[in-house]
Amino acid sequence: MRAFVITAFCLLSIAYGDQHQPVRHATGTNGVVATVHPLASKIALDILKEGGNAVDAAVGAGLALGVVDGFNSGIGGGCFMVIHASNGEIFTIDGRETAPAAAHRDMFLREGKAVSDLSRKGPLAVGVPGALAAYAEALEGHGSKTLAQVITPSVAIARDGFVLGKDYVRRLGGAVEKLREFPGASAIFLNDAHALQVGDRLIQIDLANTYESVAKDGLDHFYRGPLSKAVAAWMKEHGGILTETDFANYQPKRRAPVRTTYRDHEIIGMPPPSSGGIHVAQILNMLETFDLASMDETDRLHVIAESMKLAFVDRAHWLGDADFTKVPKGLIDKVYAKTLARRIDLNKAIDVPTHGTPDGSDSDWFGKHTTHFCVADKAGNWVACTQTVNTTYGSGVVVPGTGVVLNNEMDDFAAQPGVPNAFGLLGSDANAVAPGKRPLSSMSPTIVLKDGKPVFSVGAAGGPTIITQALQAIVRRIDLKQPLTQCLKAPRIHHQWRPNQLRVERAMPQEIQDALKAKGHMVAATSGLGVSQALSLEADDTLAAQSDPRVNGSALGF
Ligand code: GLY
Repeated sequence: MRAFVITAFCLLSIAYGDQHQPVRHATGTNGVVATVHPLASKIALDILKEGGNAVDAAVGAGLALGVVDGFNSGIGGGCFMVIHASNGEIFTIDGRETAPAAAHRDMFLREGKAVSDLSRKGPLAVGVPGALAAYAEALEGHGSKTLAQVITPSVAIARDGFVLGKDYVRRLGGAVEKLREFPGASAIFLNDAHALQVGDRLIQIDLANTYESVAKDGLDHFYRGPLSKAVAAWMKEHGGILTETDFANYQPKRRAPVRTTYRDHEIIGMPPPSSGGIHVAQILNMLETFDLASMDETDRLHVIAESMKLAFVDRAHWLGDADFTKVPKGLIDKVYAKTLARRIDLNKAIDVPTHGTPDGSDSDWFGKHTTHFCVADKAGNWVACTQTVNTTYGSGVVVPGTGVVLNNEMDDFAAQPGVPNAFGLLGSDANAVAPGKRPLSSMSPTIVLKDGKPVFSVGAAGGPTIITQALQAIVRRIDLKQPLTQCLKAPRIHHQWRPNQLRVERAMPQEIQDALKAKGHMVAATSGLGVSQALSLEADDTLAAQSDPRVNGSALGF
């Protein structure tokens, strides 16, 4: 039996489930961590306590999230890491999925039209996974423990199971139809006799075995061994194009971060194939031309929304994998930002020339796909990592015997100009499918420096809202000097140019929503705009960690 469920309340597990009051804020002088799941945070904290550094702990947390939060991320997906090492080195690791060698520009078109299902579920949706290779790269350069050491605690959780909380059960409920199409996935996550409920224990034996084999044989098991062989064989049988050679050729990439200054801070972000670093920087550059701190809340939100709109037009046009397409450095130029900012009218929302509002762009994608976590230690290592299998349970494919949920990151390419992806995002040729290319992402792991020292870090889950969540947290911290908790708790907004809509969390006071409408914004109230995690270095030199109050995550420190 590959996986089974026991309805049982185990005292230890309840303590880590979301039946108990989650601890979302923590401080420490030795190390801190924030993730969306108590078990992942605990594994990271244990690694720190056992003498590991923030890189070891972050990799441990990432692997644990692949077990306890596998609908969002896992080794079948990809990740981006922004790392400030204790020696002052700052770098990023790109573990983004790549298009298989047999991929081609029109692979999701049938009779000239994009067929979204093809890029969102099943064999063609899957890019070559990169997360595990990125973890190994991070450990090799800056960890103090081995992959085997940091993966081992997660083997136990996969094998012995963990108690499901309501976040998990809700997300599973929304993916039942997709998972049912793939026997490898339904054998693990669905059980016709007993639909998983809060308090059930999910055991993932195949994933435990895969993790154990990685502990024993390293990356070879995954990229050049039984795992890649099994996936390639399944793909061949089911009309997929992913091969053993695609796996063997996968390489994580170290990339120079995107850097900009914001007021008296330096912002370090993820470069392409993420759009995150560029657009967080571009929007901040625009905002720097306004005195946000002295504005009232409506004017401030108006200026922020307009800056988002102006940045997302550029995203749709210019952004793609910079190894394949020219992404202009001028996007983060301060002079360019001033030119854009001058277009903002403080009294009314501007009209930005449009490619038209595409069909399907009003779908409910403002959820919590993806996950962000962050760890810092007393030596000055800071890791901001965002990882994903794209939408909930990725492609839905789990190749029998592996336990690994395979991503549907191919949907982050522009299948056809003018056709939105699952997040309503448009793209141009810059983000067209090509063999070996990496799909454009919004993931925005960010570290903020003051006088060369890390003082703040943030990242998020939730498609394109990742960019806008990160920048709002930064504005709250730097301009409004708010406590860490408030930086994540405050109601958020989101504008991505198309659809021409200002998404506003319902918690935003009605009079502000009305005032934004009066300025001409098409305000659409929504229950939640993503999930962020953040860290800070406080004035007294203690480290603080914050998990988003919108979910039952966990911040820990010691
Ligand atoms: N898959 C969502 C993103 O990378 O932006």
